[in-house]
Amino acid sequence: MRIVMIGSGYVGLVSGACFADFGHDVVCVDKDAGKIASLRAGRMPIYEPGLEQLVAGNVAAGRLSFTTDLTTAVAGADAIFIGVGTPSRRGDGHADLSYVYAATREIAGAVTGPTVVVTKSTVPVGTGDEVERILREARPEMDIAVVSNPEFLREGAAIGDFKRPDRVVIGTDDERARGVMREVYRPLYINDNPILFTSRRTSELTKYAANAFLATKITFINEIADLCEAVGADVQDVSRGIGLDNRIGRKFLHAGPGYGGSCFPKDTLALLKTAEDFESPVHIVEAVVKVNEARKRAMGRKVLAALGGEARGKTVALLGLTFKPNTDDMRDAPSVAIATALADAGVTVRAHDPEGTEQAKALMPDLIYCADPYDAATGADAVVIVTEWDAFRAIDLKRLKAAMAGDVLVDLRNIYRREAAEAVGFTYAGIGR
Ligand code: UDX
Repeated sequence: MRIVMIGSGYVGLVSGACFADFGHDVVCVDKDAGKIASLRAGRMPIYEPGLEQLVAGNVAAGRLSFTTDLTTAVAGADAIFIGVGTPSRRGDGHADLSYVYAATREIAGAVTGPTVVVTKSTVPVGTGDEVERILREARPEMDIAVVSNPEFLREGAAIGDFKRPDRVVIGTDDERARGVMREVYRPLYINDNPILFTSRRTSELTKYAANAFLATKITFINEIADLCEAVGADVQDVSRGIGLDNRIGRKFLHAGPGYGGSCFPKDTLALLKTAEDFESPVHIVEAVVKVNEARKRAMGRKVLAALGGEARGKTVALLGLTFKPNTDDMRDAPSVAIATALADAGVTVRAHDPEGTEQAKALMPDLIYCADPYDAATGADAVVIVTEWDAFRAIDLKRLKAAMAGDVLVDLRNIYRREAAEAVGFTYAGIGR
């Protein structure tokens, strides 16, 4: 199959590289000439474990290439994936589809034969209809089917998620397009991964429903964690106790400082907008969005409370700034709300992150950035674990404590046992226990 991936951001690049690894001939397109030049030189624009090697291997094998020239790439392609960004529109929370439609118009001008256009970007229900309308209007003579094929990748585990997916959802009623998509995903059929064919609108909504459900699960356990603190119970045991029920499932029941990232905040908001447009409210998701926003701010207050008394003039070390480990992504990271609350209270914030320092600096230029956890803890009254990077699980707590001026350890990810922290003299505060 000849596949074109338009947009070489997170989703586009990972998907493109994985399709090439499936044996297809893939061209990744991006408007950003700098990005294409660095990809050609083997430099990745994002941090994702295994991606650099995957790209290098497939480029060397002649299956993967990068270009800014959409017109040449699209000519003769069997499938053209749109993997451009769909950020939240400023002001109203709707998904901004301008990049999707711009790409569609360029495709319309460039196709030379029958093809399949696939939206890989997360797009609201009905976007496929509009993409189809644009293509039909521009090229009424051409057989172009429009398919929805959402991505369920987790950052940090994206390649594994792509190659061993829980499921692939493909939305189209077009028989020829189904055949093309079966070819595109053939290696997954061999391994017996569930591939679900649905209508296009169903597929579009499935993506939002999945992310909203996961965001709900996290938010649910976060509120239960607060209740655990109030009644003197342990949320980790509650989580295990409910998660072992197969109907509930153990994953995504880890209480923390609130979800962030490039997907959950944006997709829950966009789902609310769709619900509003169609006058079919999703009250649960509304509550989830509100509770999660409030939670990020509440975490700042939790740290201030742990400092006890007057916080002004004190120093706090934040460990982990990205919204989750194994990424350099700072989008909607709880660390930002926490650092802001601390700075507003007159606290000096020292910070360390294994991969996200550059991105964090752009958002929070006033923090003091440190090379490692011990450096960050130097002279601090409290250390706060904000993101559960593996490196933090292996911290020498004695050494950490020795570097500090105070003794407070706020563990927003519950990566330490209270007894272990108290044994070296910490005053420990976790989440929901
Ligand atoms: C998510 C979805 O998992 C993925 O399927 C979708 O395609 C994109 O959005 P991602 O944003 O990369 O992926 O990260 P994920 O691992 O799902 O974590 C999202 C957020 O939830 C993080 O802030 C994480 O810290 C938080 N989280 C997750 C919890 O607080 N507790 C949990 O139990 C799980």
